[in-house]
Amino acid sequence: MTEGVQGARLRRAALAVYPAVLAGERLDFLLDRSGLRGSERASLQWLLSGALRESGILQELLQHLLRPGKQDEQILALLQLALFELRHGQRPDFAIVNDWVSASQLVGKSWAKGLINAVLRRYLRERPGLDADAVSASHPDWLLQRLQDAYPTDWPTIVRANLQAAPLWLRVNRRRISRDQYQALLQEQGHASQRCATLPDALILPQSLPVRELPGWEDGWVAVQDGAAQLAAEILAPQAGERILDACAAPGGKTAHLLSLGADDVLALDSAAPRLQRLEVALQRQGLSTQTRVADAAQISSYWDGRPFHAILLDAPCSATGIIRRHPDILHHAPDLPRLCQEQARLLRGVWPALAPGGRLLYATCSLLPEENELLVQDFLHTQADACRVDDPRCGQRLPGQEEMDGFYYALLRKSAAGEAA
Ligand SMILES: C[S@@+](CC[C@H](N)C(=O)[O-])C[C@H]1O[C@@H](n2cnc3c(N)ncnc32)[C@H](O)[C@@H]1O
Repeated sequence: MTEGVQGARLRRAALAVYPAVLAGERLDFLLDRSGLRGSERASLQWLLSGALRESGILQELLQHLLRPGKQDEQILALLQLALFELRHGQRPDFAIVNDWVSASQLVGKSWAKGLINAVLRRYLRERPGLDADAVSASHPDWLLQRLQDAYPTDWPTIVRANLQAAPLWLRVNRRRISRDQYQALLQEQGHASQRCATLPDALILPQSLPVRELPGWEDGWVAVQDGAAQLAAEILAPQAGERILDACAAPGGKTAHLLSLGADDVLALDSAAPRLQRLEVALQRQGLSTQTRVADAAQISSYWDGRPFHAILLDAPCSATGIIRRHPDILHHAPDLPRLCQEQARLLRGVWPALAPGGRLLYATCSLLPEENELLVQDFLHTQADACRVDDPRCGQRLPGQEEMDGFYYALLRKSAAGEAA
């Protein structure tokens, strides 16, 4: 049961975690520490991710529903969570209102019962007009402005896509089981799924599910990976015997995919040791292994033995503005964009010398911002004489919601072979 918040335990956890995430803490860490498991954890995640995705809308609604003046922060957080459940939950409105009115006791604020009741009932009375006014307030100014500049016609579609919950994308580990067999297993357990026509290992489930409920999870039959992320290994198309550098590899979704497609000589690098440990655990679960190294990918002298790589995947750190529907906390942390772009350019220039003549490099981000993507690649191509772009219809800027996938950017580059002009 993910679309409702039954039980005081859940509401108590939500009231503790939500203000912390709004103050800048990471939602996934706090969910892990909440002590809730299974369907309770899924309900908490549904509520908090949704309220974070919509927090701009919820704040705007409260501006209309509350009298001007200073309000108690905990009660404001409680009202946002209650409004989110009223907007999207599947329980009856009266039950939602009653439960959140009672929840004021959980934070020692019984005095606010009348206020909470009045605000929620007024929302239910005036709902259609209030909802229509609030949607444009869902994204912070820094992001809305950039999206409007970069996508003068598509930005409203992007904003709406960011507010939708994402489906669950699975990648079947073809080394363990075929997609058809896995789909049949899911069906036996009552989970309908859809095959993706363009990705041979992908299945799409309409709703999120705790991974441990997936058949064969512990045995690595399947990984959770959005369709857009699954494109990386498909575009790079690794061949057995090729030396491949996965330059920013952790937590390893794309490394595992490369290995499952038959790559057998992959060096997986990441500058963050704990994240690289997560990669190792993920590979082990899927029955895969490869060489790993903690290193700054741009400093090739620290890890490269001088034998050129046939292919490089550079899945660069970025603003993650393409995956807001999965990580709505991104709406609450304005990134340091100039620093990120500098780092992306440093990584691209840094790894390029390790690529073999005639070799290919796939630059990837889960960003929607041109300065991290197309503009950065164009700048690189203008100044790097031995680099050219390979046309691939799967590359370019992909927007969230298109083909049910996350927002991603891919550019496939090629290094000219010896004696060949770029
Ligand atoms: C977008 S994530 C990679 C996701 C990964 N490719 C996957 O599919 O699971 C970017 C990664 O780059 C790593 N990173 C950041 N700066 C780096 C650097 N200078 N050298 C190597 N890795 C770096 C981060 O620690 C992070 O794990």
